[in-house]
Parts: sequence; structure tokens; C-alpha cells
Amino acid sequence: EPYLQPGPEPTFHTQEAFSPESNFTAKWTRADARQIKRMSDPTAGSRQNSMPAEYTMPSIPQNFPDMSNEQVWVWDSWPLTDEDANQYSVNGQEIIFSLVADRNLGFDDRHVYAKIGYFYRPAGIPADQRPENGGWTYGGLVFDEGVTGEIFEDQSYSHQTQWSGSARIFPGGEIKLFFTDVAFYRDEDGGPDIKPYDSRLALSVGHVHANKHGVRFTGFNKVTSLLEADGTYYQTAEQNPYYNFRDPFTFEDPAHPGETYMVFEGNSAMDRTTAQCDADDLGYRDGDPYAETVTQVNASGAPFQIGNVGLARATNDELTEWEFLPPILSANCVTDQTERPQIYQQDGKYYLFTISHSTTYAAGITGPEGVYGFVGNGIRSDYQPMNQGSGLVLGNPTNLNYWPGSPFAPDYNQHPGQFQSYSHYVMPDGLIQSFIDTIGTKEDFRRGGTLAPTIRIEINGASSTVDYSYGVNGYGLGGWADIPANLNVNSGGQV
Ligand code: FRU
Ligand code: FRU
Ligand code: FRU
Repeated sequence: EPYLQPGPEPTFHTQEAFSPESNFTAKWTRADARQIKRMSDPTAGSRQNSMPAEYTMPSIPQNFPDMSNEQVWVWDSWPLTDEDANQYSVNGQEIIFSLVADRNLGFDDRHVYAKIGYFYRPAGIPADQRPENGGWTYGGLVFDEGVTGEIFEDQSYSHQTQWSGSARIFPGGEIKLFFTDVAFYRDEDGGPDIKPYDSRLALSVGHVHANKHGVRFTGFNKVTSLLEADGTYYQTAEQNPYYNFRDPFTFEDPAHPGETYMVFEGNSAMDRTTAQCDADDLGYRDGDPYAETVTQVNASGAPFQIGNVGLARATNDELTEWEFLPPILSANCVTDQTERPQIYQQDGKYYLFTISHSTTYAAGITGPEGVYGFVGNGIRSDYQPMNQGSGLVLGNPTNLNYWPGSPFAPDYNQHPGQFQSYSHYVMPDGLIQSFIDTIGTKEDFRRGGTLAPTIRIEINGASSTVDYSYGVNGYGLGGWADIPANLNVNSGGQV
């Protein structure tokens, strides 16, 4: 276990399960998140990693191969899964969905042009026998032009984009693609918002057709809007024009057979201008000499960062109708973005994993770009942040003694891996895939837009460690863009 610098003790969390319908929301507190800095070495010098190796993603080399053969930028990606997050190949083809954009755009301009594309490759080949770039074939876009814009009442949008989600396979090769459907209303030159963007959790249904020659889809010609932020549990555009509401991930819970649930990224439903955090959001133990006061924290600007992880439940078998349940986690005055949440089950425990940026932390909190994890006895629990109570599971190499900088302008003193990858997704057996963002130092960096090497973590109760014995590229690095299926479905698409 890493040596801890002086600092506050983490909040007590019991891991106790509550009914999914109950209004108990676990808190990732400031006391918890401040454990991240306690693990950081205050003597780490310029461009060194200050964080413990067991929670640090191995460094990715700058000479990475491109998985799309320079056809598209690629970032957030997800496999074809069942209700238990198993990953499927279909008739011998592995299939993934990715956000993609035109390579003529600057990589940082991608968000307002994102579309869902797909890739496929033959299943069952070990990573070290594949082409270096993962051996994927780019299949093109999932949706025809215009399809995903139809759900918006206000058709005057300037940019209409598809953001992250998840894909479920059902008998007969049916695929339910859950995603974030987004309309931006900006002036003509792509400048400031005329009115706030509109972000909705949505579903489109199609069918997969796979054989040894390739993969194509039919359907995906209609979109059903499932959920819009409600302002009670999940912040709306009226409460905050920069609200986050996206990234649906569906699953079943063995404790509640017959139900389908969804987790997603939200914000606590407070008005941006009047948001406040309370003593429970801070979470300090009585008498902790390192505690802050509620007044100090609220005066610091920290209430601008109020991320949460939402829960919803399907109310019909087609999964076209959903109801909100209260959030399962809040990060008030900790971070503003708890993105791409997912539920991972192991040894009877429920793990909530989510990604967060180094630059979305609240005043007084810092941490690496990467994966954060919480463990409990049910999908709604008094989740305990993993690893010394901090929540940090896998961070990019970083130096918390210096400013993070940004992917387009790394800080002079930052480790070259500070922004190496993002949008990590935890797969069966603790494998983790992510996309490359920026690798290198201020004077010599290269942008990514392709998937990183897959790595592996070993999960054990409330702890995890990077598995440095995993991989084909040494030091814990697996194959580039390696998203292997662990199950296959047959020609009828029967699961
Ligand atoms: C409701 C429920 C309750 C039970 C709880 C257990 O979905 O089944 O009856 O108390 O969940 O998690
Ligand atoms: C930047 C941004 C980021 C966020 C991403 C997707 O344009 O708003 O803060 O991670 O786009 O919403
Ligand atoms: C994560 C993310 C997601 C969002 C997508 C938009 O990288 O910010 O939350 O769906 O990127 O590009």
C-alpha cells in the first residue's frame, strides 16, 4: 500500500445495499477524493510520475499505430454486450462501436461532429498474432444522415451529434444501440450557443449480419428518445447550460431478476448560480484536523463541480420506456464529470466504474485522468471508493505537484503520459480499453484519435492493482485496440 502524506481521513462507507428505488445516494466526498493527493509523492520532480505504480496506467509509446488506417478520428468505443457485460463476436466477427469524426477536423473540435461508426475483425486470434494496429476493418457509420436529428422538436440545430452509449445483443441478431443524441444550437460559424445544447438518452434498434466477409447492419433508421434530464434528480439545461447528461449503459441485476437498469452521467439537479455543498458532501470525520468548513468550500467555487451517476429502470420489455430513479452516486464539490459509468460484477460485489478528467475537479481537489471505482453490495449501496478510500483505480502517469495543462498544450512540467489516454472502459477479467488523446511533452507531443493498448487490472475487494505481467508489448501493455470477445453467437444470432 502506498505511503500516505498527511491529510484528512476518508469518509466511513459501509457498502450496505439499499433498494434500487430508495433515495439513498452514495457520496464520493471531498474527504475521500483528497486521498488521491495523499498518495502523491511531493518530491516527484518535473516530468516524473508522482502517483503509485499500482494505480498508474503503463506509459504508452508515442509511435502508436492507427487502427482506422487514417480514415477517421476514433475515441470512445464500446463492444457488443449482453445483460451481464459479456462481450460477443457474431459468426466469428468481433464488433465494436466507436465515436468517429473526419480527420480534417482538429482533434479537439470532434465533439460537435461525433458520429457512431463501427469496426469488425475476425474473432479468436491472440493479440500477438494480429496486425500491430489491432487488425480492425472500419465498417462506416451506423446511421444514415438525418436519422438521429429527428427526435428534436427544435429542428434549427447547427450541429447534431451522436455521443457515447452501449450496445446490447438479443436473440435473432437484434441490437439495441443505446446512445446520447445531442443537438447544438450555435451561430453559423460554429461560435457560441444561441441556446443551450439538448442532450438525450436514446435508443435505436437494428440487426447485425456477419459472415467471414464482413459485418453490416440493417435497421437503425428510427430513434426513440428515452430520457431527458428532469431537474429533480438530474440537472437540466435551464439549471446549467453546461449540464452533463449522457452515456447510457444498461445491465441486469441478479438481485432483481426481470428488471433492466441503466446507469448514465448526470449532474446534481441544482441551479448553477446557487448550488451549494453540505457537510455530507465534504464527509470529514468528527475532529479531523484537516477538515474544511462548508462555508470555505462553498466560497471556493467548488459547487460548480457537481457530477453524479444516474440510475433508471426500464418499464417495458422492449426497453423503449424508462423511469428515473435517484442517482446512485454524487460527487458534489469533487468533480463535474463522472462519464461513461458502468456496473461490473465480481464475487458478489458491485463495482461502479466511471471516468473523470484531471481538469474537471473542483477547487481544492486534484487527480489524474482515468478510471475511478466504487464497491458495494448492490447497485445502490453506500459505495466505498476503492483504493485507500480514494476512488482512484487507474490514472494516467501524472505529476500532481504541477498543473495538468491540456491535451493541446501540455504543461511544461507534466509527465508525457498526463493525457495519454481517456474514456477507459472496464471489460471482463479486468481488461481496460481507452483511446489515445495526447502523448508527449510540451515541446514534442502527438495527438491520438485511435485506441490505446489494452491493459489489465486485478480487482480484489476494495482494492485493485495494475497487472504488469499482462500483455504483449511489455510492462503491462497489451495489444493496440484490443477489444476481445469472451463469447460467440451463432449464425442465427442466438445468444
Ligand atoms: C426492490 C427490492 C426490494 C428489496 C431490495 C433489495 O427492487 O427488491 O424489495 O428490499 O430491492 O435490493
Ligand atoms: C468539451 C466537452 C468536454 C466533455 C466533452 C463531451 O467540448 O464539453 O468537457 O468531456 O466535450 O461533452
Ligand atoms: C468521454 C466523452 C463522453 C461523451 C463523448 C463525447 O470522452 O466526454 O462523455 O459521450 O466523450 O465526445
